[in-house]
Amino acid sequence: MAREVADFVHYGPGTLGGVYLRHFWHPVYVAADLKPGWTKRIEIMSEFFTLYRGESGAAHLVEDRCPHRKTRLSIGQIEGDSIRCFYHGWKFAGDGVCEEQPAELPSFKEGVCIRSYPVREYLGLIFAYLGEGEPPEFQEFPEAEYDNGRPIVVKKIVVPFNYFQRLENGLDELHVHFVHKVSASATHEFRSLPTAYAAEETDYGILRKTTYDRDGRKEIRTKYFMMPNIGLTLPPPATELDDWTPRLSWRVPQNDENTISFTLARHKPRGEKATSKNWESTDDIVNAIFDGRMRLKDVDVYHPRLFNIQDNTAMAGQGRMHEDREHEYLGRSDIPIVLLRRIYQREMKAAVDGRPIKRWRLPRERLVLGFQPAAE
Ligand code: FES
Ligand SMILES: [Fe+2]
Repeated sequence: MAREVADFVHYGPGTLGGVYLRHFWHPVYVAADLKPGWTKRIEIMSEFFTLYRGESGAAHLVEDRCPHRKTRLSIGQIEGDSIRCFYHGWKFAGDGVCEEQPAELPSFKEGVCIRSYPVREYLGLIFAYLGEGEPPEFQEFPEAEYDNGRPIVVKKIVVPFNYFQRLENGLDELHVHFVHKVSASATHEFRSLPTAYAAEETDYGILRKTTYDRDGRKEIRTKYFMMPNIGLTLPPPATELDDWTPRLSWRVPQNDENTISFTLARHKPRGEKATSKNWESTDDIVNAIFDGRMRLKDVDVYHPRLFNIQDNTAMAGQGRMHEDREHEYLGRSDIPIVLLRRIYQREMKAAVDGRPIKRWRLPRERLVLGFQPAAE
């Protein structure tokens, strides 16, 4: 299979991937975790920002360094919808304009401002546009706005791996049969390996179609990947594990060694076994496995973060920043990953060359999720 090698691992300012991803809106924080009058320092794509919620309730995102003597604005105080630097009291409006410099003459603040970024709250998340110029159209997900009255749970999880490993894992159907074997084998639909793998580029990104033979009938399992970083998955509803639920996930590089997953999922009440224990953290378990103090098969199948433990173990095995894609052996089961790399390579190059990038459009029709008979 053709090799697709580019810089898939760096997303800081000025990098191939960093320039490209700054053309899109991304979730940066869980809305409920930011109360009025509070500030948070956040890192997205290896840059720090100050996120705050004004007393009016509006969220604002500005650069993290005060222009005066460069302390963090995130330690400042909120006054109305403005933020006042903790060090010498310079005050900035949400749009970045400097409103006060208590010790200076009035004319000194002319032309002094901080960078501010467009934000938007949607589906319980705060989205931001961190790029240059006008932001692109904001994509909405009507299907995620309600779910037959069932609550949608918003989660933020930081995983200690490079962003592109996380993206590739999300497009990798085969790993479900191995990495998530305990859960998948409890699910009728996953009882045999796929017989064919396919992926096509669409208006929205990648449509992955995996074929299964079910007692002589072909069935296709679909997965939607929306460029540049959104996945929509509907696993079969067979197990009681609360991770095994439909989910819409955004992956966002925090920096090149950590990736944030923002996930909207249907709420599935945990069984008694999952709630009755104080569970060890995902990272502690993965470290114990790597230290040889534990085996993956020893992890309690009712651990509420079982899926993360399984995925993180596989990805930790690749290394925190897996860069050596040149010496991999990609087979037919990697077809969706090859397509992902090809699209990223093409689009990242266009972005750094200043050429138009592909503007992805979410499908208008309702997405077909899960298994369905293959067309003859
Ligand atoms: S460093 Fe912010 S006002 Fe001086
Ligand atoms: Fe997985």
